[in-house]
Amino acid sequence: EKDGHDWFMRKEIFEQPHAVADALLGRHSPGGRLQLDEMRLSEQELRDVDKIILVACGTAFYAGLVAKYAIEHWTRIPCEVELAHEFRYRDPILTQDTLVVAISQSGETADTLMAIRHARAQGSRVLAICNTNGSTIPRESDAVIYTHAGPEIGVASTKGFSTQLVASYLLGLYLAQVRGTMYGDEIRGVVHELEQMPGHIQGILDRKDAIYALAADLADARSVLFLGRHAGFPVALEGALKLKELAYIHAEGFAAGELKHGPIALIEEGLPVFCVVPPQGRDQLHDKMISAIQEIRARGARTLLLAEEDDPAVAPYADSVIYLPRVPVLLQPLVAVVPLQLFACELASRMGHDVDQPRNLAKSVTVE
Ligand code: F6R
Repeated sequence: EKDGHDWFMRKEIFEQPHAVADALLGRHSPGGRLQLDEMRLSEQELRDVDKIILVACGTAFYAGLVAKYAIEHWTRIPCEVELAHEFRYRDPILTQDTLVVAISQSGETADTLMAIRHARAQGSRVLAICNTNGSTIPRESDAVIYTHAGPEIGVASTKGFSTQLVASYLLGLYLAQVRGTMYGDEIRGVVHELEQMPGHIQGILDRKDAIYALAADLADARSVLFLGRHAGFPVALEGALKLKELAYIHAEGFAAGELKHGPIALIEEGLPVFCVVPPQGRDQLHDKMISAIQEIRARGARTLLLAEEDDPAVAPYADSVIYLPRVPVLLQPLVAVVPLQLFACELASRMGHDVDQPRNLAKSVTVE
């Protein structure tokens, strides 16, 4: 049942090329137009949307952070992302033109369910991004995008997250198609990039041994930091969460630009810091990240970089580099998260922890 793997989590990490391919399957017509099966909202309703609020918890919330960047960029619809338990209890501003997007692997998370009930009671439309057919959240939503990852057994979400990203991208592109904010060719271009992702993820999985060696090396770390910017910031948060929940060691994710506003005080000799380096490009994201890396290295951090395979800027500042394929910045989370999942799984396993059933955690949190 674990396909020769020691843990369900490891099996599910390795299933991601398939899961991502399945999440993309059957989403466009022969003419190249995107179609979403259970998009029960009419094109007119989607054109009327004037604000999107994404609500979720934990890993699904981090998928929501990535979704905001992509959906705003492609559609110019203002997006907010909010932890479902915060959203529900602060009297958020909701109208019938607000689209609330609930992201939940299980479809049973009580906090997220309460958030959508509240949104519907205010007259807002709700769309669920969910992995579990027939679960409560999609049943109580106006529309659904199923992520088709297959059952996720390990408590820590892995293929759940990557397919939530895919569904979020599809939603953004679909809205762009309906509202005419992107040309058909542009949409097809992004879909084509998405279709390369299973191969890219497989390429990273094939190089697992280097990541496992890093885990062996860091087995006695007391604290690990993660830095990212732009779409790499949620990846940093997710890398840290995986390490907390599986290895029970202190881990924090930061936006790299925030370092000088406080967190840089944490940097000390030998502190491991994973850094998600944005793709090389014309904007300044990449170079700003490199200078942040220089700053922490000068203060003794052990820099573990995730960077594009042909990026010449990283080697001088890296204690280790994990190479990523060249992909657009908004899609980079799909590849950058994989080494961090492998790292957390391997480290926890080496420490003798139950990777599939971390202490104090349940797979779906059905109480508020
Ligand atoms: C972390 C993890 C949790 C869930 C969160 C939401 O690895 O699994 O943070 O992501 O409890 O669960 P769903 O997506 O089922 O609503």
